[in-house]
Amino acid sequence: TKRWNIQRGTTINKQFISEAAALLKAGETVAFPTETVYGLGADATNKSAVAKIFEAKGRPQDNPLIAHVANVEQLQQLVDNLPEYVDDLIAAFSPGPLTYVLESNGACAENVTAGLSTIGVRIPDHPVALELLQACNFPVAAPSANLSGKPSPTTADHVDEDLNGKISGIVDGGPTGVGVESTVISCREHDVVILRPGGITKEQIEQIVPVAEPVNETVDKPASPGMKYKHYSPDVPLWLVDGDAEKIQNVIAEETEKGRKVALLARDAILELVEADLKLSLGSSLEDVANKLYDNLRKVKRTDVDIIISEVFPESGIGQAIMNRLKKAKTDYIP
Ligand code: TXA
Ligand code: MG
Repeated sequence: TKRWNIQRGTTINKQFISEAAALLKAGETVAFPTETVYGLGADATNKSAVAKIFEAKGRPQDNPLIAHVANVEQLQQLVDNLPEYVDDLIAAFSPGPLTYVLESNGACAENVTAGLSTIGVRIPDHPVALELLQACNFPVAAPSANLSGKPSPTTADHVDEDLNGKISGIVDGGPTGVGVESTVISCREHDVVILRPGGITKEQIEQIVPVAEPVNETVDKPASPGMKYKHYSPDVPLWLVDGDAEKIQNVIAEETEKGRKVALLARDAILELVEADLKLSLGSSLEDVANKLYDNLRKVKRTDVDIIISEVFPESGIGQAIMNRLKKAKTDYIP
């Protein structure tokens, strides 16, 4: 696996970008940074290239991929019957962490959409991603660049840890910013349904278009195929403890008594008040929590802790995405 280092804040090395684009054009897989998490890219119009993504990640075949493009014109080339309000969403949030699920016009290979009639499209807000997509001039299919089921990668080292030897290259653009994935919305005629909460909040979307509640969803057949799989799991049991510092301390004390080593995953205000074998800091704001979450879930693997205890976060703003991921990752919820 080849690796190119593009430091954030310096001018982007055009040579690296064109090498990475050439590999993608040749039907290979290349990981690259976005503002949310690292993506594992392949030419979305090339079926055998896209198949390599599923292979490298161990991804279930029925879970569709997001097509990444550099601009609105490229987005329009992949879809039919674009609802009018989507222009307003694009003006407000793209480039950015919002994925539009729209009627596909069949321009992408059929395995990108896993046979669905719709396609998810996103314009990422990251200078390296945008340079790469411009250099490609074809849509780039890209799921998060982790092994299926693991926390998404927020650094090139995370990608390397999961996929070294299984993919052709990694463009290292430093740590990502948002830290959780994009919001995925199903764009219906007059309103949208949030299929996966993410970097753009429900409150932000509601400023532009009504957000409807999902209907007819079952666990086996959710509106977004990816949501039915086990996700984001650290390698250690994760308990969510819904309560204040005292409650958390009590739960930790009980486990310590049984001889277990406990890691506490929480914001600094709680870390300061509670004793634990390992303290994993999520900073102070909910934005900090989103940014630091996956790195901390991965870190635990390199320690000898037996259990991770996390605080429960308010489900407002980016907190919706954080709690969506933690509820999927958890092995227990202590009310
Ligand atoms: O921030 C992100 O979205 C990152 C970066 C790399 O862009 N990508 C990402 O991709 O998280 P992935 O594959 O890990 O998650 C995509 C989600 C899955 O839950 C998938 O089922 C859903 O989007 N999805 C994609 N296309 C869809 C479609 N046509 N209909 C419904 N859901 C779709
Ligand atoms: Mg993913």
